[in-house]
Amino acid sequence: MSPETPAGAAAAAPAPWSIRLRDATVRYPNGVVGLNKISLDIEAGEMVSIVGLSGSGKSSLIRTINGLVSLSSGTLEVGDHRMDLARGRELRRLRGQIGMIFQGFNLAGRTTVLNNVLVGRLAHTSVARTLVGAYRPRDRQLAYEALDRVGMLERVYHRAAHLSGGQQQRVAIARALAQEPGIVLADEPVASLDPPTAHAVMGDLRRINRELGITVLVNLHLLDLARGYGNRLIGLRAGEIVYDGPAASATDADFERIYGRPIGDQDLLGGAASSASTASPVSLPGEPV
Ligand SMILES: Nc1ncnc2c1ncn2[C@@H]1O[C@H](COP(=O)(O)OP(=O)(O)OP(=O)(O)O)[C@@H](O)[C@H]1O
Ligand SMILES: [Mg+2]
Repeated sequence: MSPETPAGAAAAAPAPWSIRLRDATVRYPNGVVGLNKISLDIEAGEMVSIVGLSGSGKSSLIRTINGLVSLSSGTLEVGDHRMDLARGRELRRLRGQIGMIFQGFNLAGRTTVLNNVLVGRLAHTSVARTLVGAYRPRDRQLAYEALDRVGMLERVYHRAAHLSGGQQQRVAIARALAQEPGIVLADEPVASLDPPTAHAVMGDLRRINRELGITVLVNLHLLDLARGYGNRLIGLRAGEIVYDGPAASATDADFERIYGRPIGDQDLLGGAASSASTASPVSLPGEPV
């Protein structure tokens, strides 16, 4: 797949990636085991919720798939690529096609929404162009399209720091989309947001999965979000998969088995699932910025 598209040629969207882990173990330098011999097949285009108590290995799994954490043993394939064997430029190229969304948004607050989204094009842009900020028209077009998809086009020249949390998370989603990713990984993407905004952001993630076919994995600690937005649910406990099945039919008893304790109000967000497309709840005209 070439990152360069000839001028004037229609850009074909890259195919989504599958994820395959075999006996994957992550042991941190201090001896703690983050993942314990996990084998997992996620097909291209799936939307997967990952749940588990604090310390169960949710972030370890996502960071491993992104190549931020190396396997101690076992194998990892993303699409047709052996992520566990990739090094240097190849590793950077693979990571460039995996979008990451974090609880804390990770935007550069002092610069514009557009510049933040163009960061998603970095893996596809030469160092020389990056240094002088000479993004190609196609990069800008992709950035605008990504912002439009999450309802943030009207904020393109606003400073990121001046946006609400929900708006910042949308910009982060747009940045991930601008990468033309094969996979989007989100680590507790709504943990800092109020319930309506959390539903709206989860709705955006589901939409990019459905409309663009991108494989999406979302770490969540709220079980109604996990059940409501994922097609498949994976439960982790002590670095092992203890549940794997359709999300919608996961029962409270299933969650109690994953969590190893009764579930309560603290495990639910509440509020209605967002059916609608997008951003209206957080980008009302006239809202102060
Ligand atoms: N960089 C690290 N060095 C050492 N141990 C780590 C590191 N990162 C995670 N761990 C340990 O690995 C285990 C799994 O952690 P992980 O962050 O994957 O859990 P989590 O499910 O994401 O938890 P949370 O819900 O609190 O985010 C924990 O015991 C944690 O302390
Ligand atoms: Mg975590």
